[in-house]
Amino acid sequence: MNATLERWSTRRAFILAVTGAAVGLGNIWRFPYITGENGGAAFLVLYVAFVLLLGLPVMMAEILVGRAGRRSPMQSLGHLASAAGASSHWRWLGLFGAFTVFCILSFYSVVSGWSIEFLVASVNGSFVGRSAAEIGAGFDAFLADPRRMTFNHTLFLFMTMSVVAAGVAKGLERLNNLLMPLLYLLLLLLAGYAATTAGFRPALAWLFQPDFAMITPLVVMHAMGHAFFTLAVGACALMAYGAYMPERQSLPRAAAAVATLDVGVALLAGIAIFSVVFAQGMDPAEGPGLMFVTLPIAFAELPWGALWLSTFFLLLLLATWTSSINLAEPMVATLQGLGLGRGQSAAVIGVSVWLVGLLSVLSFSTLAEWRPLAGMNVFDLVTTIPTEIFLPVGGLLIAIFAAWVMPRAAARDALGVGEPGFRLWLGVVRWVSIPLTALVLAAGLL
Ligand code: PHE
Ligand code: NA
Repeated sequence: MNATLERWSTRRAFILAVTGAAVGLGNIWRFPYITGENGGAAFLVLYVAFVLLLGLPVMMAEILVGRAGRRSPMQSLGHLASAAGASSHWRWLGLFGAFTVFCILSFYSVVSGWSIEFLVASVNGSFVGRSAAEIGAGFDAFLADPRRMTFNHTLFLFMTMSVVAAGVAKGLERLNNLLMPLLYLLLLLLAGYAATTAGFRPALAWLFQPDFAMITPLVVMHAMGHAFFTLAVGACALMAYGAYMPERQSLPRAAAAVATLDVGVALLAGIAIFSVVFAQGMDPAEGPGLMFVTLPIAFAELPWGALWLSTFFLLLLLATWTSSINLAEPMVATLQGLGLGRGQSAAVIGVSVWLVGLLSVLSFSTLAEWRPLAGMNVFDLVTTIPTEIFLPVGGLLIAIFAAWVMPRAAARDALGVGEPGFRLWLGVVRWVSIPLTALVLAAGLL
């Protein structure tokens, strides 16, 4: 890859591509269960605050490095560092990002595989007429079956790596253009339906009436990690996309549009899911199975439920597909930077991620009790450590690089909003995002 990368054809295509990366399991699967485990509204307040104070400014930092460098993340960082007379060791940040997304993709693919399983089951009408207890038991039986889980994991990863091998800008743009709006519509419909159920009021209270006594340093750290994860910030993944950004486009505007959509999707999913939770007397802190158990119950009660549910899982699958393509991109770009071909790089990454993903698959059966660290099994570890530690650390370093290290003029041009806007961004990153991230990390870890 070199400085003459293919650009996204339009500004809209760039925004859709970044939205495709941002909107995924983080919004529909992770947001509800993490919010459920961390006390509801108080967590939501923290998460939204972190999106505004850290997520957005650091997202701009990350994309602008890629945009100014016009190369793969490692090469952009190295190039801009030497242009500023700084150490070329900054390029290792790109490698750290690649390692982070490697860990994330290993479970992301497994959980996306659950969506494949549920898509097939809902097309077959397997949820029609089932009680909440039966649906829950069916999910547990699926988790306990490593063969079915491995099959879906394999299929999903293959789908991802094929698109990546074929090159990023092509098929993706069209897919995003077509299908993301449909997902929003369907969630809107679902939230609208939830408003007619008995669980709706308690769900709103749970989500929007904060009890600040719930907040501990760990809850704060969970909220910060989730803000990075859901916006896809901190792993140089968006940096890789920044390299394709059109010449004349305001980065802050694009970032704000993406964050608004991303938070919107999470809120709609949260309203729909918690309405079911409270209508059925379920536990909000049910964990990673929350979405997979509640939504089939909700749809089962709607007219044409099987049709809606199938459509939902199809769209969810497409959303996670575009996210996982973005997760794979920085790794493939890194290997390409080392001289491998694109197809070769995609194959090497695909096989390695697949192998590590098997550990997540087995975390629900054979390896459930293997707890290598802090009492967590592999699935717990890969869903926690990369998101809550690696992404914030990566984001912190990216922010330091963009705001303190790289040439100022290059940063200003890449932000694309002129001097006053640039100063505002610089001030926020230097004096809010950087210290706040460092503080939360320290408070959570020490
Ligand atoms: N933002 C994605 C989601 O919410 C996950 C992701 C994280 C994608 C980091 C890319 C990089 O599902
Ligand atoms: Na997201």
